[in-house]
Amino acid sequence: MKGIILAGGLGKRLEPLTRITNKHLLPVYNKPMIYYPLGVLVDAGIDDIMIVTGGNNAGDFLRLLGNGRDFGLKHINYTYQRGEGGIAEALGLCEHFADNDRIVVILGDNLIEKSIKKYVDEFRRQDEGARILLKKVKDPERFGVAEFLGNKVISIKEKPKKPKSEYAVCGIYMYDPHVFDIIKTLKPSHRGELEITDVNNAYLRRGDLYYNILQGYWTDCGTHESLLYANNLAAKLHNKERG
Ligand code: G1P
Repeated sequence: MKGIILAGGLGKRLEPLTRITNKHLLPVYNKPMIYYPLGVLVDAGIDDIMIVTGGNNAGDFLRLLGNGRDFGLKHINYTYQRGEGGIAEALGLCEHFADNDRIVVILGDNLIEKSIKKYVDEFRRQDEGARILLKKVKDPERFGVAEFLGNKVISIKEKPKKPKSEYAVCGIYMYDPHVFDIIKTLKPSHRGELEITDVNNAYLRRGDLYYNILQGYWTDCGTHESLLYANNLAAKLHNKERG
């Protein structure tokens, strides 16, 4: 199993904070944002990791993280996404790295409270396909949203005006090697991006998209409000850990 952190994009919703640095290098309480998703992958037992970055400050990731010694790693892989082609485009850059292995993908601005190890282990036991994590939220219209028929997810809509459920798709995705063939078939959405939601819907149509409901807190840091929430959450979790 390999891990991929998507930390590209221009972070325009966080202007002017992102005018001179990459969103994923901004502070979240006592650490740069990218530390959190990296910690999540390492905790899940994944030590072969690729970081996809972009923008004007890509070199700062290398200066900050180097070969990942602070995380007990011997090596980190880096690649570069030009412009804002979307999450699925960024993932498409990792085909060579994935090398027909299964992958766990995490968005560089997603913060969670608890380990994802048990979900990753479930994915390891799965024959093939994909696995996503869902979380009940108050503002589903900001996310990819799952529509259910009974317990079954029947479709996912990206930022729907009228969400069909309160379950957002978290920015943590597990895929078999087929994902790269799916990405090659995608067309840009109205926001000009290759959408990860289209990838997940392709797996749904094949009948092999599985899900878990994520335990514990989850937030992204895409807006000023969610970044503030993430800072408070990180402070709370840090202080809880220290007792
Ligand atoms: C992206 C995905 C969305 C997902 C969210 C999680 O949204 O497109 O489906 O729910 O991440 O953080 P974006 O941050 O690109 O608006």
